[in-house]
Amino acid sequence: MDIYRVLTLLSLGAISLAALDGSRYLWYDQPAIEWERGSLPIGNGRMGATIYGSLDEVVTINEDTIWSGPFQDRTPVNGLEALPQARELFLSGNITGGGDFVLNQLCPPASAKDQRQFSYFGNLNIAFGHLDGVENYVRWLDTRAGNSGVSYTYGGANYTREYIASFPADVLAARFQTTKPGGLSLNASISRAQYTLENVASVEDAIATLTYRGSSGQPADQSPILFSGQVRFVAVGANVTTSGSTVIITGATTVDMFVDIETNYRYPGPEELDAEIDNKLAAAIGGGYDMVRDEALADSSALLERASINIGKSPNGLADLPTDQRVLNARTSKDDVELTTLAWNLGRHMLVSSSRNTAAAIDFPTNLQGVWNNKTTAPWGGKYTININTEMNYWPAMTTNLLETQEPLFDLMALARPRGAQMARDLYGCEGTMYHHNLDVWGDTAPTDYWRSASMWPMGAAWLVQHMIEHYRFTGDRQFLNETAYPYLLDVAKFFECYTFEWQGWRVTGPSLSPENTFIVPTDMASAGTGEPMDINIAMDDQLMRDVFRALLEAADELGVSDTDADVVQAREFISKIRPTQIGSLGQILEWRSEYTELEKGHRHFSHLYSLHPGSEFSSLKNETLARAAGVSVDRRRNSKGGSTGWSRTWMINLYARLFRGDDAWDAAQAWFEMFVTEGLWNTDDGATFQIDGNMGFTSGITEMFLQSHAGVLHILPALPQNAISTGWVKGLTARGNFVVDIEWEGGSFRSANVTSNMGADLTLRVENGTQVLVDGKAYDKTIHTQKGSQYQITPAISN
Ligand SMILES: *[C@@H]1O[C@H](CO)[C@@H](O)[C@H](O)[C@H]1NC(C)=O
Ligand SMILES: *[C@@H]1O[C@H](CO)[C@@H](O)[C@H](O)[C@H]1NC(C)=O
Ligand SMILES: *[C@@H]1O[C@H](CO)[C@@H](O)[C@H](O)[C@H]1NC(C)=O
Ligand SMILES: *[C@@H]1O[C@H](CO)[C@@H](O)[C@H](O)[C@H]1NC(C)=O
Ligand SMILES: *[C@@H]1O[C@H](CO)[C@@H](O)[C@H](O)[C@H]1NC(C)=O
Ligand SMILES: *[C@@H]1O[C@H](CO)[C@@H](O)[C@H](O)[C@H]1NC(C)=O
Ligand SMILES: *[C@@H]1O[C@H](CO)[C@@H](O)[C@H](O)[C@H]1NC(C)=O
Ligand SMILES: *[C@@H]1O[C@H](CO)[C@@H](O)[C@H](O)[C@H]1NC(C)=O
Ligand SMILES: *[C@@H]1O[C@H](CO)[C@@H](O)[C@H](O)[C@H]1NC(C)=O
Repeated sequence: MDIYRVLTLLSLGAISLAALDGSRYLWYDQPAIEWERGSLPIGNGRMGATIYGSLDEVVTINEDTIWSGPFQDRTPVNGLEALPQARELFLSGNITGGGDFVLNQLCPPASAKDQRQFSYFGNLNIAFGHLDGVENYVRWLDTRAGNSGVSYTYGGANYTREYIASFPADVLAARFQTTKPGGLSLNASISRAQYTLENVASVEDAIATLTYRGSSGQPADQSPILFSGQVRFVAVGANVTTSGSTVIITGATTVDMFVDIETNYRYPGPEELDAEIDNKLAAAIGGGYDMVRDEALADSSALLERASINIGKSPNGLADLPTDQRVLNARTSKDDVELTTLAWNLGRHMLVSSSRNTAAAIDFPTNLQGVWNNKTTAPWGGKYTININTEMNYWPAMTTNLLETQEPLFDLMALARPRGAQMARDLYGCEGTMYHHNLDVWGDTAPTDYWRSASMWPMGAAWLVQHMIEHYRFTGDRQFLNETAYPYLLDVAKFFECYTFEWQGWRVTGPSLSPENTFIVPTDMASAGTGEPMDINIAMDDQLMRDVFRALLEAADELGVSDTDADVVQAREFISKIRPTQIGSLGQILEWRSEYTELEKGHRHFSHLYSLHPGSEFSSLKNETLARAAGVSVDRRRNSKGGSTGWSRTWMINLYARLFRGDDAWDAAQAWFEMFVTEGLWNTDDGATFQIDGNMGFTSGITEMFLQSHAGVLHILPALPQNAISTGWVKGLTARGNFVVDIEWEGGSFRSANVTSNMGADLTLRVENGTQVLVDGKAYDKTIHTQKGSQYQITPAISN
């Protein structure tokens, strides 16, 4: 069903339940029970809203620069002196002493231990006076268009609410309507738990306005983040008045609402942000709700409709049930295959709603909660956690044809780069740039959280910069490579050339750690038997450094930089000094410099498998030995209850897909529904607290079953779960080399694919596990030099 059909239904009144396609709509026959358990998210990148659909409505509103305070200089003071001493402790085998020393000397003092944290704007509360006697209640979210609504019958009339987030107009908007002329009344107000400066309601020229001003809580002389928001109501023909900080509207048939929030992060002072709000809201009101809505949905649909999957129908009408019942069913049954399609669509909707690039210098990427949070301080600070979570958020951007949603990440990196240069200099005595395991809204790169198994990890920039080279691999955008990615790679490389030190002939990192994992200190070292995370020469660090320097060489080659260029010569030299991956006695990839025993065999992080996914070094198409060892490691984690958080389980989907083990990937996907999603299909760590990464990791993992392109070939159906989804199609997926790919399969086997070449790159194909194919009717036997704009049709050589 398309959005226009919903529109038609809306204009008639309440929605008929069976009309909503269960692959596309989240819908419910009751309001959200709790914020995490079914409130529905919309957003335009900068602002987000979550809608409960309660009879007395609650809409929680966010803006991406409302954080807990101003920039803090958290540079550890003794870094330069302490660094060699810390290394000495680890080299001498004093692992526990080294860890204590690092926390005390190389991390910011306790008074400045944490970065800033993401905060909410407030709740918009709208009472309609319909607390009893409501029938035909439905609320929904359209994951392919980005709007959400509520409809019901009350007192013989139908009532509808529709919510949209407009990227073009940069406002949130809603329309409240009834079929009974003059039958709609509402009272609206804003509330916030803390730090209110002003909260008033007013009416001018028949437009009612709620104005709310708040702050991040510091005294005025300490440069708090100040924010203002306005909610304006247009209700032609109705009576509009105020009482205290409440807008009161009676006798309306249609009420249109427009919202904008601005902060002094983007504008110098209150006057400028008020002027900005006024500009945006006056323009939106001038254009009218219909225009704002149509533009908003045209914009988001254009992105969302670029790619789609159809992996079959759920049996027994399972997909026709309200979403909360489907989630409860999925705790015990794997039959509702359309729930996978719905969650795939939801991940893309969340990405489009929480990460949009504008012409402004700074747009923010999706944080740990996207752009949605209902607390003064979001769980885990709602930060940009870059030891997996932020990267995971962008996996589906590349493979599901939403590349521009990744661009805000590069804005954040541009913000952090000079701060990272200062950190490199003052903490490590090096040039170049570096980050630790989190960034905040100020691009603060210092170690954070005073957390033994996470804080001291100098690899954040090394991982994030992979997104720049990948962006180039997908788009072929040479200007981006030359102006953005290559200079950044040079900077990150420069840091490692200086920061690493010689150990057993290799250039190694340290003090560092394998994100959040802990080993048991072996008997030949001081403090034997205790669990410790920090050491030197971490396996993941070697993998990340190899990828930084290889990307640098790849970029230099693409840009025609001379082979004898000093940066290129140094990079080649450095790669030869990075220690190769070590394989342990069980045939596994080693996570640390020696075969230490893990404290927790099923640990949630798969850091040492970075090179299986998202990296490519452990692909069996590149190195069978490493691929086999990576398989042993993934299995070991899974068999010891690994995948113990939502994001971890979805990383496992991606890892099994990269091992070409479709059934195991599918099982991991179904286990995610079983353990980690709420009734709203929100990913959680623990069944309760929302964290968006797993939603994105899920969409990515499902996509990796159908198409991969990281190992030098465009690989069609590399990991199809042949029994679970034996027949289906995907359209509009994207591959490196700027290819767009449609694929059909039937009875578990490849049927056909169309590959469109957007830039005329070379096309090297692999289908399933090596199935012989025809390209445009001719036997495929070698790389095709494609023509820009042409489509290539691929079919099996022997039809089966
Ligand atoms: C209200 O909605 C119901 C259910 O969709 C529909 O049958 C009815 O005709 C609508 N009433 C009006 C007045 O539009
Ligand atoms: C946020 O959500 C939680 C859980 O649903 C709820 O208890 C809390 O009241 C909400 N906070 C606000 C400010 O709405
Ligand atoms: C380990 O280092 C700590 C901190 O420098 C020191 O106090 C301790 O004595 C050392 N332990 C051993 C066994 O050398
Ligand atoms: C709005 O508030 C007024 C005054 O408190 C109250 O009389 C009225 O019932 C409220 N209306 C709704 C729709 O809740
Ligand atoms: C508006 O209020 C006036 C006076 O209170 C009342 O006479 C009128 O009927 C109201 N109009 C509507 C549309 O409710
Ligand atoms: C890269 O940019 C530099 C200047 O910024 C320019 O001189 C050079 O020609 C560009 N190279 C490529 C390959 O675009
Ligand atoms: C595979 O990787 C291992 C470990 O790094 C290495 O020793 C071996 O030479 C590689 N094999 C190939 C074929 O590249
Ligand atoms: C590829 O294109 C052909 C011709 O237009 C069409 O018949 C076929 O269904 C397409 N295959 C896919 C997977 O879209
Ligand atoms: C490829 O997979 C098919 C099953 O889909 C299997 O029958 C065949 O043996 C496999 N071929 C190879 C070379 O592994």
